[in-house]
Amino acid sequence: MEISELRVNGSRLRATIEELARIGGTAGGGMHRLALTEEDKQARDLFIRWLKELGLKISIDEMGNIFGERKGRSPQKPMVLSGSHLDTQPKGGRFDGILGVTGALEALRTIHENRIDTERTIAIVDWTDEEGTRFSPAMLGSGVWAGHFERDWAYSRVDLGATSFGEALERIGYKGKAPARKWPVHAYYEFHIEQGPVLEKMGKRIGVPKGILGITWFDVYVEGEGNQAGPTPMNARKDALVAAAEMILKVNNLPAKMGGDLVATVGEIQNAPNSRNIIPDRVRFTVDIRSWEDLLKNKAVEAIKNEFSQIGEKRGCPVRIEMIWDISHTEFDSHLVERVGKVASRLGYSSHPMVSGAGHDAAYVCRVAPTAMIFVPSIGGRSHVEVENTRWEDCEAGANVLLHCLFQSANE
Ligand code: GLV
Ligand code: MN
Ligand code: MN
Repeated sequence: MEISELRVNGSRLRATIEELARIGGTAGGGMHRLALTEEDKQARDLFIRWLKELGLKISIDEMGNIFGERKGRSPQKPMVLSGSHLDTQPKGGRFDGILGVTGALEALRTIHENRIDTERTIAIVDWTDEEGTRFSPAMLGSGVWAGHFERDWAYSRVDLGATSFGEALERIGYKGKAPARKWPVHAYYEFHIEQGPVLEKMGKRIGVPKGILGITWFDVYVEGEGNQAGPTPMNARKDALVAAAEMILKVNNLPAKMGGDLVATVGEIQNAPNSRNIIPDRVRFTVDIRSWEDLLKNKAVEAIKNEFSQIGEKRGCPVRIEMIWDISHTEFDSHLVERVGKVASRLGYSSHPMVSGAGHDAAYVCRVAPTAMIFVPSIGGRSHVEVENTRWEDCEAGANVLLHCLFQSANE
């Protein structure tokens, strides 16, 4: 068979995703598989079993990133890399990240069973802790690999139960020996669900992102004065939760105030002591601000910090801000982006140029290697929730685009 006629096996891809979905699957049909938990370990074990079945050379680095290499005819040439992540959000979906890992696996299975040799080595990767929900910031595995974060700093990040990333990695047995350090990569492709409404609305099959929005994360600590809910007069209160509520509304209004493509979210909150008849004295909440325009995002961050200190002052509640993460917008390799669109059209799939609002490991890999992504539609534009879904035909179509992009890059 001509290479150009080769297609992935859509039912095998579906079976692979469904098998992975049993590890940490929720009653609501989603996934709860936070980074470096027992569920993450089990998903990794299964992934490694599949890599072994293909006879790939497996390596695990100090960050727990897992690589499986299929040697090319010229292994000294920089390899082609593809993958994503197997960790999920709390009560997240079955496709986010997982499709990129299983799609690359399906592409390699197709190449393998057809005994096709490529000029360059092709490798699959599962990056550790892309979601950043248990250990922040996001993309710690790819960020260390690409040289953006220090390994030991990543190890020292703690979850809400005070377990460190390093301890959790060791506990699940995935602190590998290989240095978590970039090497020359000829091309990196990450296949992913869109996680937004655009492709479905446009009636298009393949999304071709030119890059990813910049992201800033910070944590806000508000301190109040605890007291009895009954006897304490309303005008004598320093209520940390009320101050936080006012701040959260300001975050929600920030995009309207700043304009452009800015989006802003408060997604996580802790209130102490969290009793119905005590005025709250400590609140922590997270802020996530994104835009393609780095300047606009940075201005918005400054503006909201000012609003927070004014609210804190007015309500007698001191505010402390801890910066967690800042990544400027990412522009993918124009040549590879163009290739994704051309391959889609050659395979008979409609495509649409776009920007990714979600963060991806591709953002860090892009800083050290030519990178592009392939998107497929998210049903109802829903993601990071249990009902996250993508049609199986679309998963298959995206995997075919990945397969042929891999061929082209691996034979250069
Ligand atoms: C990653 O999932 C993100 O927050 O966009
Ligand atoms: Mn993802
Ligand atoms: Mn995600």
